[in-house]
Parts: sequence; C-alpha cells; structure tokens
Amino acid sequence: MNDMTVPNPSEATRVAPPAPLGMLAELTHRCPLSCPYCSNPVELDKRSGELDTETWKRVFSEAAAMGVLHLHLSGGEPTARKDIVELTAHAVKVGLYTNLITSGIGVQREKLEELANAGLDHVQLSIQDAESDNADKIAGLKGAHEKKRIFAGWVLELGMPLTINAVIHRGNVDNIEALVNMALNFGARRVEIAHSQYYGWALENRKTLMPTREQVMKAAETVERLREELQGKLVIDAVVPDYYARRPKPCVGGWGRQSLNVTPQGKVLPCHAAETITHLEFDYVTEKSLSEIWTNGSAFEAYRGTSWMKEPCTSCPRKEIDFGGCRCQALAITGDPRNADPACSLSPFHAKITALAIKDARPTDEGYVYRRFGAKPGQARVEITRS
Ligand code: SF4
Ligand code: FES
Repeated sequence: MNDMTVPNPSEATRVAPPAPLGMLAELTHRCPLSCPYCSNPVELDKRSGELDTETWKRVFSEAAAMGVLHLHLSGGEPTARKDIVELTAHAVKVGLYTNLITSGIGVQREKLEELANAGLDHVQLSIQDAESDNADKIAGLKGAHEKKRIFAGWVLELGMPLTINAVIHRGNVDNIEALVNMALNFGARRVEIAHSQYYGWALENRKTLMPTREQVMKAAETVERLREELQGKLVIDAVVPDYYARRPKPCVGGWGRQSLNVTPQGKVLPCHAAETITHLEFDYVTEKSLSEIWTNGSAFEAYRGTSWMKEPCTSCPRKEIDFGGCRCQALAITGDPRNADPACSLSPFHAKITALAIKDARPTDEGYVYRRFGAKPGQARVEITRS
C-alpha cells in the first residue's frame, strides 16, 4: 500500500458501527455574515445546487430511523432557507431533537415564533464579541451585534433554551469575561468558548486570528474562575485550543463514531473539514441511503476505529480515548492524515505546530480575508464592513 492509500478492512472482520448520535445538516452555505474563522470550505456550495425540501425531509427520516438523536440545523445561515419551518417541523415529527445554529441575522420574530410552534427544541446563537463595534467588524456587517441582542430576547420570550457560541481568536480573546457576562445577560443557559480551529476560512486567516500562548493561558484562568462564580447559573464549555494543547481532543468524537455532516449539496462527510483530505471519496444522499453511507461509505471506513493508525498512536494507551485527534489537522500540518494529530506532544510534528502558533501570533497589519462566495485562497486581504 502506498503511503496515502485508504485502508479497506475486509468485510469478514468488520463489525457494523453503532448509529451516530448527531447529524449536522448544512442546509445552505448562504450567510449574511462573513466571519473570517468560518469552518465552511473555501469553495462554498451555491444555492442552485442545494438539496430540495423533499430530499432533506427524506434524509431527516432516514437519520431518525437509523438512531440519530440530535439534528443540528446549520449552514451558513439555516434560516436563509425558505423551507426552514417545514424542515424543522418534519424533523420534530420523526423524533429528532432539533438545534438551530444561527447568526440571528435576517430572522424576523414571526419566523422564530413559527419555528417555536413547529417544535424547535433549542437555539444556538453565535456572537463575535461583547463589544459591538469589534463584533460587527469580525462579522463583516454593521449593526449585526445589536440584531443578535434583540434576537436573543425573542428566543427567551418564546420559551426556548439558548446557548451562546463565541469563537475565540486574537480579536476577542482578551474579552472572555465580558463575553461570558453578556451570555448571562442574554439569558443563555450555556456558553461555548470555542477557540478557532484552523480549517477552511480560518486557515486562510491564521496569521490574523492566532492568539499568543499568554492570551490563551489567561483566558483559561478566567474561564476556571467564572465557572466557579457562575455555578448553577451558566454552564461554560471551553477547551484549550489545539495549537497550545499537550493532548488532542477526540475530534468529532472519533472519525465515523458519533456524528456525520451533510453538505448543502448532499455530500455526506465524517467531519466538517473532511473534504480537505482530497484522496477520500464521498457519497451523496441523492445516490445512497444515509445508513448505507454511514455503515459502508469508504470515507467513513477510512479512519474509523484504530487499525489505520501509525506510531505513536498504535501503541498509545489513549488511542481509544482521543482516536489520534484530528485527521484534517494531521493532514494539514504533517501531510498524512494517519499521523497523530500534531497537537499531541508525542507527535514528532508537535514542535512544528508550536512554532507555527508562535509565528502566526505575532502582530500583523494584515486585515481579515472575509468568508464570501467567489473569494479565492491567497487573495489580497480586505476589510469589509457592510451595512
Ligand atoms: Fe492520542 Fe496518538 Fe497522542 Fe496517544 S499518541 S495521545 S493516541 S494522538
Ligand atoms: Fe476533520 Fe477533525 S476536522 S477530523
């Protein structure tokens, strides 16, 4: 087998995988915001190629039938789909717990009320910063922050639980305390302090997004203190970012173990950045059933379990805990997705990821490369703040 050949376990030895717990439905890549850390691919799917209503409904039915519990309605901005209420109602009808992952922009109160009436279970609202001018600058849209504040109020009025998600990077890492307090004031039950991960658009912007080690450590201390102070009032989810970690996280709970993503065009991915592993072949829900793709799809089989691993993972006692970390990050930094995630200090590439973090955390005058249709990797950096 050459170095990058995808392993293909024989049918005789393979055990069917348990059903995934969650499915992320990227209903559309259209979005009113242009965040430079967006995890969508640099090549965004166009509206004309999006799955139609009936196909999404069939996919949700298939997901429920195979045992999926949580459906994350995501994008882009999922409410940009005209059929969002119909899709949500169908997901609820087939027994899925529905979570709307939204920017809160472009959603009228009436639409949110229709979603609540359709049975939407939970809303996760993204916030760019606690300080509105900076938040608008990061989102690339003037007035966005104020609209989000109003949207959060509607979520509470309509009786739905609210989680605030804040992607953390150099542009807001010093404002963690204010961000957490803002989530509390918005009435959220949970806040996710999610350090930017460097795939897709964020990789284009690593030089402008990477915080220093000192900033990350100070943020971690702040989170620990706030967790104690706000116990019983607000749950704070946070993990150390990969570039400053000693051990990797089990990315997506382990490849092909707990979750799957469906893109706007119906391509089924083991994780949101899987398309960066260009030698993988992905199946479409328009050609095969979700269950068939999950169970036998070559992209899912490629890094499921532990048999594909190389040293140091092969002989590591943590291999069933973190599953070697992130395949996409291993490819991006080491050139081989079968390598240990370089976030792991046991990886021979760990020094490389540390050096990259130190280099990219240096101050720069460069602006963000904002996420938008048609933008090309390596293009001139631009500041756009639309109104
Ligand atoms: Fe995880 Fe591999 Fe590092 Fe062990 S060597 S901790 S399995 S990434
Ligand atoms: Fe693909 Fe981590 S983002 S495995």
